[in-house]
Amino acid sequence: TKNLKVLVSSKDFPPAALKVLQEHFTVLQTHYMNYGEEGKTLTKEDLLKLIPGCSALVWISNLPITKELLDKAGPQLKVVATVSAGYNHCNVDELKARGIKLSNTPNVLSSAVAEIAVGLLLGAARRFNENLAQVASGEWEIGFDKVLGQDIRGSTVGIVGLGGIGQAVVKRLAGFEVSKFIYSGHREKPEGKALGAEFVTQDELLTQSDFIVLAVPLTNETKHMINKDNLAKMKNNAIIVNVGRGDLVDQDALYDALKNKQIYAAGLDVTTPEPLPKDHKLLTLPNLFVLPHIGSATVRTRTEMGVLAANNVINALTGKALITPVQL
Ligand code: DGY
Repeated sequence: TKNLKVLVSSKDFPPAALKVLQEHFTVLQTHYMNYGEEGKTLTKEDLLKLIPGCSALVWISNLPITKELLDKAGPQLKVVATVSAGYNHCNVDELKARGIKLSNTPNVLSSAVAEIAVGLLLGAARRFNENLAQVASGEWEIGFDKVLGQDIRGSTVGIVGLGGIGQAVVKRLAGFEVSKFIYSGHREKPEGKALGAEFVTQDELLTQSDFIVLAVPLTNETKHMINKDNLAKMKNNAIIVNVGRGDLVDQDALYDALKNKQIYAAGLDVTTPEPLPKDHKLLTLPNLFVLPHIGSATVRTRTEMGVLAANNVINALTGKALITPVQL
């Protein structure tokens, strides 16, 4: 299979995963970080130049896989392996129309993303922004005169989407003396019972939760699922955490709800756009805690994601079933 060419879309690919690919294929790798970003057109040119004749594309970016790129690839392109759980950027319709398979990297990142969800929960509930500002200014409130936060202990935690990440969040919060876990989604999950989480309607989840964790993929159905109407249903002390995709949330509506203290706080690992411009109005809110999309960003997890993507490519190009296929 050494005559088969595999294109890796960025230089940010774990060495262990690169090695797996190189043992089987001729690997081409672009020198740049991302595709199609404004001001980085060289990246795009590079990809368009390298893709013709490649049998697989390993995609390391949340930026869209364009029709232009697929057109340039040619009919020998058999598989796209995105190094991410989310695949909203993968142009599923165009892949399907061309009979190109798609794999993603679910499960291996659930723990790391859940850890960040816990971090966001704490960061938002314990008002890290305001407290870090005190450290930066050297002017600490002392004694009982503190910025007061909220406990996780005794709370109702609502998980939107009890998939791999949602389940991992419940497992991690199990030691926090949460009073009740509830979850919503398409259907009741067998894992829910074992985790002590109760299946409820989305409206019940929104009205009852003290903490709401969004752990669903971005689809037409989930886009802006947190909007003005749904924010209005939440408790005034509600804290929203988003580890899915920025567009799950209508950010203008979230801004208003946080600004007017209609809800208590939010913690976001994902935003629209990314990066969020540093003068974005969301970043003026003391009760919003933002991280720059680091859910899966650990050495171990990124390596596992890369190796899984590499093994999906090997399977696809040697006539075996994909390990983690996306149903197109
Ligand atoms: C994912 O896997 O979808 C993460 O957001 C990293 O891109």
